[in-house]
Amino acid sequence: MRQKLVVANWKMHGSLAENKQLLSDYLHQLPTLHTAQVVVCVPYPYLAQAQAMLQNSGIAWGAQNLSKDAVGPYTGEVSAAMLKDFGASYVIIGHSERATAYCESDENIATKFMQAQAHGLTPILCVGETLIEREAGVMQMVVAKQLDTIVKLHGASVFANAVVSYEPIWAIGTGLAASAEQAQSMHEFIRGKVAALDASAAASLKILYGGSVNPQNAVQLLAMQDIDGGLIGKCSLNAQEFEKICLAAA
Ligand code: 13P
Repeated sequence: MRQKLVVANWKMHGSLAENKQLLSDYLHQLPTLHTAQVVVCVPYPYLAQAQAMLQNSGIAWGAQNLSKDAVGPYTGEVSAAMLKDFGASYVIIGHSERATAYCESDENIATKFMQAQAHGLTPILCVGETLIEREAGVMQMVVAKQLDTIVKLHGASVFANAVVSYEPIWAIGTGLAASAEQAQSMHEFIRGKVAALDASAAASLKILYGGSVNPQNAVQLLAMQDIDGGLIGKCSLNAQEFEKICLAAA
């Protein structure tokens, strides 16, 4: 049985004062959940705050991006080792909000994935199609290509220590989540694709769903066989809504 995993992606929201409140609300409300693992991915400057407030709690923390390089003259970049310095254990990789805005190629994303693993961080790899691609019926091809770059460069066994998050781009921030059936079908496809190459990596691989998850749709989505949790944007900024989603996972 894969333990459910619920990840908060705060994106570029928060301040020291707001985070203090939100993290203490999380700490008040979430420790009763013994059955789901909870992770908060904060903006870089707040990693120290997350570490100070969450260490020795059941809640883990992480970042929303990292550099593809280990060290060097890369102004503005943040390395995997730096994230580890602040106790991060997860990092989101290839989120579509970055991949499009900052022209991240699949190769770049694959390199970041390996940087994360090489430093003991669990990568949360985001994959997903646009609305045009879904309407054209090529969504599996698109997601397969996103996974293939990593498989080609590093093999399928790397998924044993990773999380994949299926985030259809049309569902992110739109209030229009994928149906439980649409999501399950893609999750099954992803697991099957990894299983064809490495059955044991596929069996342990956590596949999250992200895109307009809320307390109402979480119950159905998280009950599906291949949906191992959620990557939550907007609703993670409200401790009560986030708690309800975590309860749905538990
Ligand atoms: P929303 O939950 O706000 O749609 O964001 C989803 C997301 O992008 C999580 O990474």
